[in-house]
Amino acid sequence: MSYPYQIKSLEAYHKDYNESVENPEKFWANVAENFLWKKKWDSVLNWNFKDPKVEWFSGAKLNITENCIDRHLESSGDKPAIIWEPNNPEDRVRVVTYNILHKRVSQVAQMLINNGVKKGDRVCIYMGMIPELAYAVLGCARIGAIHSVVFGGFSAQSIADRLYDAGAEFIITCDGAYRGDKVIPLKNVIDDALIGNRSIKKVIVYTRTRTPISMLKGRDLWWEDEMEHAEYQLEKQGKIHFPAEEMDAEDPLFILYTSGSTGKPKGVVHTCAGYMVWTNYTFVNAFQYQLGDIHFCTADIGWITGHSYIVYGPLSAGATSLMFEGVPTWPNASRFWDIVEKHKVNILYTAPTAIRSLMGFGLDPLKGKDLSSLKVLGTVGEPINEEAWHWYDQNIGKGNCPVVDTWWQTETGGVLITNLAGVTPAKPSWATLPMPGVQPVLVDENGNEVNVKDESGLLKGNLCIKAPWPGILRTTYGDHERCRTNYFATYENLYFTGDGALKDENGYYRITGRVDDVLNVSGHRIGTAEVENAINMHSGVVESAVVGYPHDIKGQGIYAFVIIMGHMHVNDAETRLDILQTVTRIIGAIAKPDKIQFVKGLPKTRSGKIMRRILRKIAENELSSLGDTSTLLDPTVVDEIVGGKL
Ligand code: WTA
Repeated sequence: MSYPYQIKSLEAYHKDYNESVENPEKFWANVAENFLWKKKWDSVLNWNFKDPKVEWFSGAKLNITENCIDRHLESSGDKPAIIWEPNNPEDRVRVVTYNILHKRVSQVAQMLINNGVKKGDRVCIYMGMIPELAYAVLGCARIGAIHSVVFGGFSAQSIADRLYDAGAEFIITCDGAYRGDKVIPLKNVIDDALIGNRSIKKVIVYTRTRTPISMLKGRDLWWEDEMEHAEYQLEKQGKIHFPAEEMDAEDPLFILYTSGSTGKPKGVVHTCAGYMVWTNYTFVNAFQYQLGDIHFCTADIGWITGHSYIVYGPLSAGATSLMFEGVPTWPNASRFWDIVEKHKVNILYTAPTAIRSLMGFGLDPLKGKDLSSLKVLGTVGEPINEEAWHWYDQNIGKGNCPVVDTWWQTETGGVLITNLAGVTPAKPSWATLPMPGVQPVLVDENGNEVNVKDESGLLKGNLCIKAPWPGILRTTYGDHERCRTNYFATYENLYFTGDGALKDENGYYRITGRVDDVLNVSGHRIGTAEVENAINMHSGVVESAVVGYPHDIKGQGIYAFVIIMGHMHVNDAETRLDILQTVTRIIGAIAKPDKIQFVKGLPKTRSGKIMRRILRKIAENELSSLGDTSTLLDPTVVDEIVGGKL
């Protein structure tokens, strides 16, 4: 496999960028020629951001799994598609060749069909980071079922909400998952999510931890039995593989729930053709992937980064994707470096949070580790501070590996702004230049393009994109109007990212963080309204307000100001723990506030709106710049809150 669309020089970048903007249809048709289609497109792009409506490669027919698997079999059938590194370094590594992947995905497809799953049905996947998770995802895509992967850190309540929103009837899960020295009881969580549920028809359970679990007759099935039966059936029919369903370019491929500024997560929908082209194109270009390279993305497949850069991007490029079950600090802080040495990793793609947390262990964990295989380093998920950038560059890349800072979102499907490894220049803590096809613009509050530079010569504004790229979200599941109001209604004819950014004289972008009420905690997206809803579920809570504050390792921490009923103050420490437990139940442990301050009142305007700006300043410890508080209903609450600050 070769990548004729791989950009190899700065000049080529500018040339491709200009072409992609001047004639997007021609540009993307040329890229799309490098994929396997059952039928080519009638038109390349139809769009308007008003409805919004975006269609790429309309009329084309394909199956993404043929692009991710079948087309590589002849040349690379025995090459590793997935190398799996287990949680416990002493356990056996699994190498899944493209041939094996083909067989397993066919079996999953047959297994799903056997259990009544049809094209267009939603399948919820709640598993640990094991190869079977990739098989499950691809098995759904093979038959045209829509997968909705839920990260293993979400609670039963979160799963129940997502199952309901997606109208899912099928679940694939595990008995448990290993995470460091913990066993996460996934099937128990699913059982809790299914109490009172009448829609779920089948739950397929893979055995990973041999945790005792309940298996309900008629509903729960063992993966191992079902896969064996599927294999037998395929063999009996003389089939070596399960034929891939013919999908329309714009048929949904998956739903992935993500947080916004409202209390309810949104089901972001990506479709088959555009997402495939975009993840492949960005993978090959951002990381400058060369055939044979080992690509190690440390994300979880429960998040978009894992969907796009563990599964679809790498596999559609015939790459070798290293999948890791564990955590960076168990059994010790050398874990990543041991994996790099053991598997001779060439590309390492991780989150600033992980880098900062490993920095905290100093250089000892790196002693004697051979990192010489590394060629490219990448970061994603949150702004990277310069200190972490330099530490990564110097100590991991030894100054020899380009560091790509890739900015993107669940909604964008793949990377939108990044330097291209070794091809376009890097600038510490700047994502730098847009990918071909991406037209960023910085606007002020009224949606006017910003053109006045600040005192340091930078433009500053809210980051929007002017035109669609192939990987843009198409809708939010079941509620297109919500998609419109969230992303396309703030500014006319623009996609609004929710991020603020700076632009320098070279046209480089630096993403400064969210300008809406979305937090980024350890690279995980969490809505403040979601956390408030969860806190407010606690019986003793009257009201709460949640804001972010700078956190050395997590990037942002969660600060909750909470009013509780008078009698609850008998033991604040216990009440705090109860509130944390409530949040864990409602959302999951990832959303637990780092700080809970009990307050008598919240700063509100006369119309009753909470002034979060003031709370944010207090949480950030910027007490001298609280601004005008005289318009508040009761300005004295501010003094009280400042006085009790944690
Ligand atoms: C943030 C993760 C700065 C940003 C792929 C965005 C970043 C949100 C970067 C999306 C980066 C992601 N620099 N900020 N390189 N990458 N972000 O949907 O605020 O989980 O809006 O997608 O993460 O988070 P999501």
